Amino acid sequence: MRTTTRLAGALAAAASFLFPTALAQNNAAVTFTDPGTGIVFNSWGIANGAAQTQGGYTFGMALPSNALSTDATEFIGYLQCAAKDNKGWCGVSLGGPMTNSLLVAAWPNEDNIYTSLRYATGYAMPDPYTGDAKITQVSSTINSTHFTLVFRCQNCLKWNQAGTSGGASTSAGFLVLGWVQAFPSPGNPTCPSQITLEQHDNGMGIWGAVLDSNVANPSYTAWAAKATKTVAETCAGPTETAIVGVPVPTGTVFDYVVVGGGAGGLPMADKLSESGKKVLLIEKGFASTGEHGGTLGPSWLSGTGLTRFDVPGLCNQIWVDSKGIACTDTDQMAGCVLGGGTAVNAGLWFKPYSLDWDYLFPAGWKYNDIAAAAGRVFSRIPGTDTPSTDGKRYYQQGFDVLSSGLAGGGWGKVTANSSPNQKNRTYSAAPFMYSGGQRGGPLATYLTSAKRRANFNLWLNTAVKRVIRDGGHITGVEVEPFRNGGYQGIVPVTATAGRVVLSAGTFGTAKILMRSGIGPTDQLEIVKASADGPTMINSTAWIPSPVGYNLDDHLNTDTVITHPNVSFYDFYEAWDAPIEGDKTSYLSKRSGILAQAAPNIGPMFWEEIKGADGIVRQLQWTARVEGSFDTPNGKAMTMSQYLGRGATSRGRMTITPALSTIVSDVPYLKDPNDKEAVIQGIVNLQNALKKVTGLVWTYPNSTTTARNYVNDMVVSPSNRRSNHWMGTSKLGTDDGRLNGGTAVVDLNTKVYGTDNLFVVDASIFPGVPTTNPSAYIVTAAEHAAQKILALAAPVRNAKWAQCGGRNWNGSFLCAAGSTCQYQNDWYSQCL
Ligand SMILES: Cc1cc2nc3c(=O)[nH]c(=O)nc-3n(C[C@H](O)[C@H](O)[C@H](O)COP(=O)(O)OP(=O)(O)OC[C@H]3O[C@@H](n4cnc5c(N)ncnc54)[C@H](O)[C@@H]3O)c2cc1C
Ligand code: HEM
Repeated sequence: MRTTTRLAGALAAAASFLFPTALAQNNAAVTFTDPGTGIVFNSWGIANGAAQTQGGYTFGMALPSNALSTDATEFIGYLQCAAKDNKGWCGVSLGGPMTNSLLVAAWPNEDNIYTSLRYATGYAMPDPYTGDAKITQVSSTINSTHFTLVFRCQNCLKWNQAGTSGGASTSAGFLVLGWVQAFPSPGNPTCPSQITLEQHDNGMGIWGAVLDSNVANPSYTAWAAKATKTVAETCAGPTETAIVGVPVPTGTVFDYVVVGGGAGGLPMADKLSESGKKVLLIEKGFASTGEHGGTLGPSWLSGTGLTRFDVPGLCNQIWVDSKGIACTDTDQMAGCVLGGGTAVNAGLWFKPYSLDWDYLFPAGWKYNDIAAAAGRVFSRIPGTDTPSTDGKRYYQQGFDVLSSGLAGGGWGKVTANSSPNQKNRTYSAAPFMYSGGQRGGPLATYLTSAKRRANFNLWLNTAVKRVIRDGGHITGVEVEPFRNGGYQGIVPVTATAGRVVLSAGTFGTAKILMRSGIGPTDQLEIVKASADGPTMINSTAWIPSPVGYNLDDHLNTDTVITHPNVSFYDFYEAWDAPIEGDKTSYLSKRSGILAQAAPNIGPMFWEEIKGADGIVRQLQWTARVEGSFDTPNGKAMTMSQYLGRGATSRGRMTITPALSTIVSDVPYLKDPNDKEAVIQGIVNLQNALKKVTGLVWTYPNSTTTARNYVNDMVVSPSNRRSNHWMGTSKLGTDDGRLNGGTAVVDLNTKVYGTDNLFVVDASIFPGVPTTNPSAYIVTAAEHAAQKILALAAPVRNAKWAQCGGRNWNGSFLCAAGSTCQYQNDWYSQCL
């Protein structure tokens, strides 16, 4: 569950746009001459008064005369942004998304406008850009509501940060750009290299900017010559301090090391420790929920033992303030705290639809195989569709409008977790993993029971860098502190029988595999050339594997309606200033609206659509009481369409020279049949809701066909992701070490090419299922734990015997007195 557009303030009056909306991919430019400088810009903007941002926002660009035929390296930019009494900042992303693009941030301070070129590897405070781009100013103005800056940005249209490169091609005549603005001023405002920013609170988004002939101007050189002003930095001095780690205690050894405490890792660590094994769970992040020692939250939670992670009504805070919580080493949103996604997500919790397993997984993982595991999961975490402890549902007006409309349109009412297989033209209240009005889920069950056992150990603030291996046998993991107090050094596993389970998530696990010399050669070469290089395992021991391929996510397509009955609840406001009665009900009885997930989710509805290729594609719709794009909160509902099981488009995740991960090949809409299902789904929903009096579609509106709407929407993770990333360490029988093989792990979740390394998290899924996936991932972990525990430990091979090779699936260990030695790619021998 995610929201696309953060709407600033409630109910800003909708006004007509000066410039087109920041939604479509073909926003034509408005030509505009800046009166102060005479510079002619192509410009795009959001009107003052529009719902996306308070005060409006405009970005303009002027380019060298040949820029539409030869890629320009620089531009003259125009930014007009909102700032209240000199307080605020704004920016533009020159690649569109916040991550992996060159970012320009600008803010007023006294009489000057300061700028900083930045680059973000995750959804957290961007780093200073280290390339040779440079900003010089032509002119600036500041008044009590806005500031305007005309600036030259040299070497800004190609970027390279620590070896990761990107760029914007002006000769294509089309750019994807991103806008952002915020009200609080940066910290250290006179020192651009050391500013601190709170997450933008006045909107952000991407848009497709079509360049027209006015953008490239023969006067460019003369205009650029006017950019003579630089604003001097005044800095107090460096403030960064190094993270201090704790050495791994000598003599520690574990039967199992589980890496990552999220949806996969928590149940896995619990089940392994339940069997009596000595288990260490290593988690990079800090404690999240109150039960496990977390402390983060708004002031009204202090002293309650609750944190922001516990209260369902605060779950969307991750989109408002992700600092310290979002992973900084992946360009998508992921929770790097104890609980992983299950600490930050909206808690939607679905009993598996049998067809998902039967369609996606090989034998051994079909529905009948996993049904017992699903039963165990749902006996521990039954979930609820009435999260408030008084059994009532609050603010149901939006739910009622849509569900009565769907019923009228012939769709059937179901209780999602009572009939998990009814997913065609059905609707339901949303089920959550919540319990007792709090987050619940794996943290409150699996982790709680694991912690009661003396043979279970948990290390927080500690990141696993790589597994240490001797050929295909893992001897331990190398750890480094992620925060002060995290461990540093090598953690060994029990000789011969010890095992490592990677549960660090779709991006985290793939990264550890690559840093351990397991992955596609092009990726291992990148690791070799990185800071890891000198200590990376020798290339003769690299294990070829399609790690990072088969990346999948539910493609999200947001649609919006309004209806006079809909009533918006401001969950964002509840962070700072909760309504007193709601706060009291929640704190005293865990009842009321704050026991429900923000932003008032439901109904959920489903449809299955058969494509021209004969494949049935699954759609899930998640409705929420919130506006999107320029439809303000108040009477609006956003209905997010997820394209799930049956979609064939897949992408790729890769690693960068700075060792962060990126979605380098976006897994959306590569197959025309996938797109047709998305379009048909919207048409079918429009038809189903036709008879609802007073219901108005704003996206797509009555003058836009569903086909044009979908064709015209930018295809980028920024506006289309669902944060359900899966698939980078696919489970299967076609061994990925061999030509054409697509699987990274076998049916026991063991990594091909190793005898004691396992992967259990979202990354092993061959594709996305019908629904939000966390209950499926927990189920997979329950199932995998049994398989792993049932496996015999590797037996040492006799001297002279084979102990490795490209298609070797036996033990990689050798009898005492011999070691496993590489002969060629297909044969290693105990010598
Ligand atoms: C904002 C958001 C909302 C979502 N909403 C829902 C929802 O409502 N319902 C639903 O079913 N799904 C939802 N999802 C998806 C779901 O939460 C994820 O699919 C699921 O948590 C993935 O499980 P996982 O075990 O693969 O990884 P994660 O749960 O992400 O766990 C991975 C863990 O590994 C840790 N880690 C990473 N690298 C290392 C390392 N090197 N060393 C040590 N630790 C490491 C991370 O800190 C993290 O705790 C949402 C996801 C997000 C991000
Ligand atoms: C502390 C600093 C920052 C944090 C924590 C942060 C966090 C985030 C988050 C969580 C999102 C996704 C929101 C959503 O989808 O609802 C986002 C989007 C965005 N951010 Fe930031 N941000 C920060 C600074 C910046 C800066 C300095 C810029 C540019 C100058 C920027 C530009 C953008 C843009 C353009 C988007 C929309 C596109 C996208 O989702 O990738 N951000 N940011």
